[in-house]
Amino acid sequence: MDPLPEVRPGVRVPFLDLRVADPGQRQRLLDAIDRVLQHGRLVLGPEVAQFEARVAATVGHRHCVAVNSGTDALYFAMRALDLGPGDEVILPALSWVATANAIALTGATPVFADIGDDLNLDPDAVAGLITSRTRALLPVHYTGRPCDMDRLMALADRYHFAVVEDTAQAFGAAWRGRPVGSFGLLGCFSMNPMKVLNACGEAGAVTTDREDLRARLERLRHSGALGRSPCTEPSLNGRLDTLQAAILLERMDLLPGWLAVRRQRAADYGAHLTEVVRVPAPTPERTEVHYLYPILAEGRDELMAYLAREGIETQIHHPVLMPDQPAYQGLGQNHFPKARTLVKRILCLPIHEKLTLREVEFVADRVRRFYRGGA
Ligand SMILES: Cc1ncc(COP(=O)(O)O)c(C=O)c1O
Repeated sequence: MDPLPEVRPGVRVPFLDLRVADPGQRQRLLDAIDRVLQHGRLVLGPEVAQFEARVAATVGHRHCVAVNSGTDALYFAMRALDLGPGDEVILPALSWVATANAIALTGATPVFADIGDDLNLDPDAVAGLITSRTRALLPVHYTGRPCDMDRLMALADRYHFAVVEDTAQAFGAAWRGRPVGSFGLLGCFSMNPMKVLNACGEAGAVTTDREDLRARLERLRHSGALGRSPCTEPSLNGRLDTLQAAILLERMDLLPGWLAVRRQRAADYGAHLTEVVRVPAPTPERTEVHYLYPILAEGRDELMAYLAREGIETQIHHPVLMPDQPAYQGLGQNHFPKARTLVKRILCLPIHEKLTLREVEFVADRVRRFYRGGA
């Protein structure tokens, strides 16, 4: 297959393109921003409440508290559990460090568990780590692919600990038709510019069914003081900007179409690559959102370099397991055989709502060439 034209020097297929080129979407966003500029309620304006109502309805939780990032969402969620020194929270070894940081910042101990072939928490590994100090489980729906929530929720019911879902990468995904984020006590979302539902800056949200937790989260996102009421506990300023909420509301209308494209492109990659590399295999229980398209590639670094020479941008999102980060090495947690093997093979191919079938075919053609020795 002939090379595609360059979209910028040296790049034929970008990993992601955050420009808003579509005139229809651009006008909608500009109109939404203009409405906010006209009413002037830039902090917790009406669009924030509207966004919270829509996220809660989409996730299937009664409440949503919009915050300034997915990191804030996780941190406030951990604070709302009243964790402290001596408490343990189990999480996967593979995620962005924000997941572990949220636990550690409360004084509790992150307990890292191995992952399975789906790159998500391995329920058997979790079972082996439960102690009398386990207060919560923090599964990550990694790359937009839901965890096995049947098995994880069964463990939580049996051993009586809370589940808080890190749904940063998975807004819109579902396990057996039920949206992720709605299984746990709290669901923690990121809407940063890279995510499937994305603001034009930092954004996040926490969802819950419990009214007391909603009230607590509203205080936590506002320095521990609601409105002009006294400060009841030290916290940060984690409010979502009205401008970002207004942008997100517009994009929520566009999201179903975007997710349909991502799903189609994932199927297209699968059709072209299944025989060459390990691709994310669809399963009947999972409605995925394909935040990322991770292949498991032998000779991953060579493949990545070859694709770069062909003008194809790929990414290794989290090359270092969280327990191997300098911040967490001191915990001395080392037994992650699966994660250690997989983390050396994961390569994320471009996937987003602007990706065309022709681009997928070009990427797949070059991946096949690499393995057939034509590289
Ligand atoms: C799994 C996971 N958790 C948490 C976060 C943190 O979200 P944010 O970047 O909005 O703070 C991210 C974002 O990259 C993530 O991928």
